[in-house]
Amino acid sequence: SLSSIEQTSNSSFIKKLKSTGRSLVVFYGSQTGTAEEFAGRIAKEGARYKMKGMVADPEECDMADLVEMKEIQKSMAIFCIATYGEGDPTDNAMDFYEWLQNGDADLEGLNYAVFGLGNKTYEHYNEIAIYIDQRLEELGATRVHEIGLGDDDANIEDDFVSWKEKLWESVCSHYGIEETGEESNIRQYKLVDCSEVLPERIFSGEISRLKSYENQRFPFDVKNPYLSKIAVNRELHKSGDRSCMHIEFDIDGSKMRYDTGDHVAVYPKNSSELVEKIGELLNVDLDTVFSLLNTDEESSKKHPFPCPCTYRTALTYYLDITSNPRTHIMKELIEYASDPKDQEKLKLMASSTPEGKKEFHDWILRDNRNIVHILEDLPSVKPDLDHLCELLPRLQCRYYSISSSPKVYPKSIHITAVLVNYTTPTNRVNKGVATNLLAQLKPTNDELPQPTIPIYIRRSQFRLPPKSQTPIIMIGPGTGLAPFRGFIQERDYARKEGREIGEMVLYFGCRKKDEDFIYENELQEYVANGTLTKLHLAFSRDQPEKIYVTHLLEQNADELWNIIGEKNGHLYVCGDARSMAKDVHNIIVKVVMEKGQMTNSQALNYVKKMEQQKRYSADVWS
Ligand code: FAD
Ligand code: 2AM
Repeated sequence: SLSSIEQTSNSSFIKKLKSTGRSLVVFYGSQTGTAEEFAGRIAKEGARYKMKGMVADPEECDMADLVEMKEIQKSMAIFCIATYGEGDPTDNAMDFYEWLQNGDADLEGLNYAVFGLGNKTYEHYNEIAIYIDQRLEELGATRVHEIGLGDDDANIEDDFVSWKEKLWESVCSHYGIEETGEESNIRQYKLVDCSEVLPERIFSGEISRLKSYENQRFPFDVKNPYLSKIAVNRELHKSGDRSCMHIEFDIDGSKMRYDTGDHVAVYPKNSSELVEKIGELLNVDLDTVFSLLNTDEESSKKHPFPCPCTYRTALTYYLDITSNPRTHIMKELIEYASDPKDQEKLKLMASSTPEGKKEFHDWILRDNRNIVHILEDLPSVKPDLDHLCELLPRLQCRYYSISSSPKVYPKSIHITAVLVNYTTPTNRVNKGVATNLLAQLKPTNDELPQPTIPIYIRRSQFRLPPKSQTPIIMIGPGTGLAPFRGFIQERDYARKEGREIGEMVLYFGCRKKDEDFIYENELQEYVANGTLTKLHLAFSRDQPEKIYVTHLLEQNADELWNIIGEKNGHLYVCGDARSMAKDVHNIIVKVVMEKGQMTNSQALNYVKKMEQQKRYSADVWS
């Protein structure tokens, strides 16, 4: 396409490095922005070692230019690479990953280091980063520092900071350089006054194109979401104090299409209560229109989020104000603390000493403080709001497994979402950003404009078998049921059309039959009409001892082997139960061993093959 030609023509990062006197380039494979943030922090710290750095998006670069890195003296490439889902690279690292796999570039003379971002609750922990680290070496590059593996399930900030310290030690010894001690607290973006900007040029929450919600234009994607009406929003729980919502997005007339098993992304906004609180705490008029402009003119990223906009818009639509901030924010806040006590506390949390790490862990992570809580509890800390806007990460869209089939519901997308609300150790009630927003969006019968929310469809690999006769096993406790509701609808539709459908076995689990057994009536109907061959139910809290879907699986080894081993069926796992997917995996390996008469390593291979053949798929989140 034209845009990719344009990109390659101005994309030589080597040229950029040379023309700006830099020797360090930090690439990121980022989906949610964390890897990008880490890359930025490394690039900035390079200055301390006289290695002027820059950040680069592999998608915007011709990565084959890595062979030319050796032309720059004492140069280095660092990679901050996230692994997603079932061991996938992030979208922006996809081409680079394929280039490494398929190519045989001679990378001798390239100095590099890799930091991986992953999550240990997933099977393919940090797989992409590990591959890249090994592959670069195979291609002749020199590893300056050993790979760091960040675990988002524990404390990835801590993993990163510890790795980064050691990285610089290795860099110093490799290049024979020393730390200059210059701590550069230089801003990446500068504040631009926009009080004179015409109202029609000011962003009001759009993701990328000005007025994109007023003039909706197909196709819809991550940068151009569709403003969908909410057609249905009803409670699924029958009792108890938790809530699970069944929501239907109206996509009639949008030309959007989805497949059973896809995800829908929802763009949330922060609660006005929290946003106004920041304005109050920092004594800023949130209607002020401003822009942040990159001080690095070479950068392809002019603004950190759509600018100009008001502070209210930035805090509501563009910035994450509810996650636990990372240590670099503590560090940047130090200069704004007027009380020495607050200053000391921030300094401690920003330091990478054992005491500092413990303080950060206890006060920020364990006590679960977000930026608002920090500003409340350290009252002398009054950062410039534009600087805070530069530091906070971007607000992310939330994904939901689509719980409908387009065969039955071509004009709507259904989701099944649990309302997130919890009390923190400092006795504050934290409210999940997206689910609390969704909870307020109830359609009415009046003429009033109906509630809307921006969405887009993200394709997934979670698919029914190509043939409707193939038998399947679905394991989905809690909201893990969501995609299977779509699967069942799809096959029920096929059956009613007169097609032959294979066995469908569902394992569902929840706390109590009379509380959170969602879609009970629907499921019982599918059992009654024969679409659902078997419904195995695990109510974990209806009796003294826990019963989980995994316990039922262990009891049903024969049925499992009959479907996956003898009938070549497919197995699906979905849900948020933290260790559930791993437990299921282990049980399946055991079943394959016992019933298939295999050794442990044969069984592991068998299951691996099932995964490759898409006969074993997981859709899990934590
Ligand atoms: P947030 O504001 O993002 O808050 C959630 C965060 O708060 C958690 O990540 C955790 O850090 C913290 N937290 C939550 N509870 C506690 C607690 N008790 N104590 C301490 N900290 C806590 N969700 C569904 O409901 N249904 C689905 O079908 C579904 N499908 C998904 C599919 C995929 C591929 C992915 C990645 C996620 C899916 N999710 C699903 C999760 C969903 O995307 C959101 O993460 C979830 O709805 C919470 O969003 P939120 O904005 O309301 O909460
Ligand atoms: P619990 O909350 O009583 O522990 C949906 O969340 C259901 O999954 C709940 O009944 C929950 O039980 C259960 N669950 C929790 N951890 C699980 C695991 N590791 N494997 C299977 N089910 C689990």
